[in-house]
Amino acid sequence: MQLAKFDLSNYKDCLIVTDGKLQELYNIYGDNIFVIPRGELAKNFTTVQELCSWFLSKNLRKNQTVVAVGGGSVGDTVGFACSIYKRGVNVLHVPTTLLAMVDSSIGGKTAIDLDGVKNAVGSFHLGDVLLDVDFLNTLPNDQMQNGHGEILKYRMLTQQIDDIFARCNIQDTIWACAKWKQAVCEIDPFDQGIRQRLNFGHTIGHAMELTLDIPHGLAVINGIYYETLLAYKLGLCDQNYLNKWQNEATKLTNICPTLTETMLDATLQDKKNDNDLVTFVLPNKFERVQLPLSQLKDLLLN
Ligand SMILES: NC(=O)c1ccc[n+]([C@@H]2O[C@H](COP(=O)([O-])OP(=O)(O)OC[C@H]3O[C@@H](n4cnc5c(N)ncnc54)[C@H](O)[C@@H]3O)[C@@H](O)[C@H]2O)c1
Ligand SMILES: [Zn+2]
Repeated sequence: MQLAKFDLSNYKDCLIVTDGKLQELYNIYGDNIFVIPRGELAKNFTTVQELCSWFLSKNLRKNQTVVAVGGGSVGDTVGFACSIYKRGVNVLHVPTTLLAMVDSSIGGKTAIDLDGVKNAVGSFHLGDVLLDVDFLNTLPNDQMQNGHGEILKYRMLTQQIDDIFARCNIQDTIWACAKWKQAVCEIDPFDQGIRQRLNFGHTIGHAMELTLDIPHGLAVINGIYYETLLAYKLGLCDQNYLNKWQNEATKLTNICPTLTETMLDATLQDKKNDNDLVTFVLPNKFERVQLPLSQLKDLLLN
């Protein structure tokens, strides 16, 4: 992983994949460029098949690298295609959204959607990462908020990142989050232990994303707000801790004022669950906690 300016002319010998918006914004043209649809529309077998056919037509060999320039959607799709083409070719991720810089480009998870199910098909395929924070200059505010949801999570997970964030340097903050995720993924590459801490805020977050149809980042900020409340009600953190972090979450977005039974029912769909227990990693120790849905409702709906 490196912090550097992305210079297209350094990658003349590589195949580069991006989306149409980034192509226009950053003048990414040439014989070695392939454009895939924007956002979630890219994450399907059609795009993966088109990519693999293009790799073949370009005679991509196992020792060559494919460069994925884009947000998490480009990274997930290109990463997946690279993991299956000739049983695996190298990928270099050049993340262009804040979310991709601090989260999706690191750790090797790739995925596409199938039959309306998000990330239904995927693989683990570690790539290299080049971080160029100048891409953020063109990123719309709602997309910045998606990344800030994840950064809030990292700030709660490590005091060191919260201290760096307090110095108001976005590049240092991104680097610290990315390095921390990389270190955690090296210890637990297949998500069996400590890597699960990165799911903090995501059990209730995913349920709200699903039921309210709101962007991921917004849902994660809400998830962090309510999962911290849950930790407090279970006696896992004190009132000061709760106030501090709920206040930080409120600074980032308007928090949905109440949770509903439908939202909590949706937590059962989370893939981390065993049987009918809902699984969380809760502050302030970020250990795994499993609760029956009825107890969750008693704690959060009253
Ligand atoms: N693999 C993982 O570990 C992991 C983790 C989290 C999320 N994800 C996945 O990431 C995806 C979301 O990714 P995302 O939030 O990065 O958004 P995205 O990749 O879907 O991009 C959203 C939009 O932003 C535009 N965009 C990207 N960079 C830009 C820039 N610098 N300036 C202007 N516009 C720009 C894109 O063209 C697109 O229209 C989801 O599919 C999610 O499942 C994967
Ligand atoms: Zn997330």
